[in-house]
Amino acid sequence: MAQDPYIPAGAGGLSVPIADRSELSIFPRLSSYSQIVAKLQWEPMAIDLAPDAEAWSGLADEHRRRLTTLLAGFRVAEDSVAEHLTPFADRAEHVDTMMMWIFFLQRRDEDRHARFFDRVAAEVLRLPGDTPAERREAAREHVPAGFLELFEERLPAVAAELAAGSTGILDGVRLYHMVLEGAVFTAGQRALLGELADGALPGVRKGVENVERDERWHVGFGVRCLTEAGDPDALLDDVLARATDAAGAWGDVVPADTREYAVNLCRRRLTIAGLGDALPAA
Ligand SMILES: [Fe+2]
Ligand SMILES: [Fe+2]
Repeated sequence: MAQDPYIPAGAGGLSVPIADRSELSIFPRLSSYSQIVAKLQWEPMAIDLAPDAEAWSGLADEHRRRLTTLLAGFRVAEDSVAEHLTPFADRAEHVDTMMMWIFFLQRRDEDRHARFFDRVAAEVLRLPGDTPAERREAAREHVPAGFLELFEERLPAVAAELAAGSTGILDGVRLYHMVLEGAVFTAGQRALLGELADGALPGVRKGVENVERDERWHVGFGVRCLTEAGDPDALLDDVLARATDAAGAWGDVVPADTREYAVNLCRRRLTIAGLGDALPAA
């Protein structure tokens, strides 16, 4: 098993079967996250997008279309996940102050991601609009309806239920961290990095690589939240089916094998964490 190099080894968890503890270095204890996050800081405003802006109009039409959908999708989605993480931290405050602090650290990452993709929308895609809100509106035009539904209806609905106290934090984590970040973002990031592999847009690629690294700890934190819960079997019955559906929301810009990769990674993370018993076979 490849280990994320920035995550300290040796993390454990008593809620996980002994046989699986050797793999737990990818799911650190809650107390380790501050160190992890400290190593991952980056500044979205410092990335040079000038070469990308210059290269954009010279890309082949189909290549540019796929990149536009993917980058516009992240422009919309990162705004949404930044906004709707707030009730998670508020609810966690009543459960565990360490968890609340990690949600706060995650929120800072999501703000950073939203600012990066807004810069890409303005400077590279040159979407119309003088403000982030206007550019978000312009980005929506390039994104499939099912994708918008996930981030503009389903996530806000769960966040509102969390804020109202009518749903538990683990329901939120299953949607936010496992389905949206674990499947939809992982699939989209992999597809994007494939599109960017030719090096034509070096600044965009650098930013997406940074975002992808951040999102890995976010998903790992989500898994950790679920393992801390104590009764995981009752919580995970349909998460992979929902993840599979959701990964399809990108439409034709994310190939089937990339969607499968993302869902299988989700499955593997849950299984390694000892949460796989209730999951359907691969
Ligand atoms: Fe993000
Ligand atoms: Fe995230």
